[in-house]
Amino acid sequence: MTVPPLKKQRTHPETGNARIYEATASAPVNIAVIKYWGKRSEALMLPTNSSLSLTLDQDQLQSKTTVRVVVDADGKENDAALWLNGNREKLSGRVTALLARMRALRVAKEAKDASIPHLASKPLLIASVNNFPTAAGLASSASGLACLAFAVNAALQLELPPADISALARLGSGSACRSLFGGFVAWDMGSKPDGSDSVARQVASETHWPNMCALILVASATQKEMPSTAGMQTTVETSPLLQHRIQAVVPDRMVAIEKAIAARDFDSFAEITMRDSNQFHAVCLDTFPPIFYLNHVSHRVISLITMYNQVKSKSNGRKYTVAYTFDAGPNAVLYLLKEDVAEVLRLVNSYFPNGVDAASGSAVDEYYGLSKQFLKAGSKTVEESEKALEAEVSKGVKKFEESGGLKRIIYTTIGDGPRILGAGEAGEDVSLFTDAGVPK
Ligand code: DP6
Repeated sequence: MTVPPLKKQRTHPETGNARIYEATASAPVNIAVIKYWGKRSEALMLPTNSSLSLTLDQDQLQSKTTVRVVVDADGKENDAALWLNGNREKLSGRVTALLARMRALRVAKEAKDASIPHLASKPLLIASVNNFPTAAGLASSASGLACLAFAVNAALQLELPPADISALARLGSGSACRSLFGGFVAWDMGSKPDGSDSVARQVASETHWPNMCALILVASATQKEMPSTAGMQTTVETSPLLQHRIQAVVPDRMVAIEKAIAARDFDSFAEITMRDSNQFHAVCLDTFPPIFYLNHVSHRVISLITMYNQVKSKSNGRKYTVAYTFDAGPNAVLYLLKEDVAEVLRLVNSYFPNGVDAASGSAVDEYYGLSKQFLKAGSKTVEESEKALEAEVSKGVKKFEESGGLKRIIYTTIGDGPRILGAGEAGEDVSLFTDAGVPK
């Protein structure tokens, strides 16, 4: 993958000859199956263990960012202004550090070639939006920071390869380094003190396992969760179980899951995924004071999937049909094969009959993405076999009759890495800013 050149150079309508360099990019969300939890260096954002994630399709979930460099207009050197989903935000220390690193790379480039425009210290305007509602209950820091690093690389014409952009994105948020690639992505923890070997790499592309997909079950959360950054720091300081995980568990799991992915071996992939999610949450419980990310809805999802896998294995000969995984919150991400989506979706729907808004009459409050298309069973035979399956499953798990179980279900597939938008399509305006520099 090569990074396309500068997207635009246009004349500022108010300042006349002011030149504006800008780029607009999009970047995907990734959900880990081997979890990153813990830093060995906060300053360099280096992890205590390697991790591995799947990149999700940007059509359902993506961040989009425009970075504009204002060359001749008034403005303080090295200034930057940031808007997130239309609201002006202060730059965090990490974003400031990320921008400083990228500007330093531009300084070096300009020092080597006097003929290129002087962009390094010019004011930056940054606008970022997500195509999924914040209320979807999904963290947007990985896609958001990957997108920022990708767009700054283009706007400042740094021409860095994706691996280098990934290392920069890591400074914004650890998990962001994996969103620079599509498909199946490992983040190798590395061992060098300067972090130069702590890099993300693509294990397999988005087309490698075409029937792999994901269902995101958004659980209604009333409680505010402990942010990942603070949570993992306390875990590093207090959990003996984390040390065992780092030394004795993750290294073998990384090898095993890469093998499972290469062989498209769903049974192995699923078991490692579920075990790793379980251990991550066990490590959270072993933190002192403990951290609770799973709630009673999450527990019920785990029981339902466990029971379903058991019942299903009798007829399809596979050990697992669905794998669950949970990040720092109660939402479940289910990895499964496309041919099983319809049945699983209807099963989940019937076990969580009362959505947040039970009054609206829909079993689950809101469907997002492509879920709706699966809700009706195709035929009488399908309906009958699903009824029999449900009867079996219900021997092991009770329906969640309370209201406020699941809020939303998002169906999505495995997708590609960041994109520069509008490149090559003359006249297409993808900018998140008006010509006057106001977020649209
Ligand atoms: C549970 O990347 O959000 O999602 O590096 O402090 O920004 P910081 O943390 P963050 O942590 C993600 C933790 C996780 C697991 C994972 O994505 O691997």
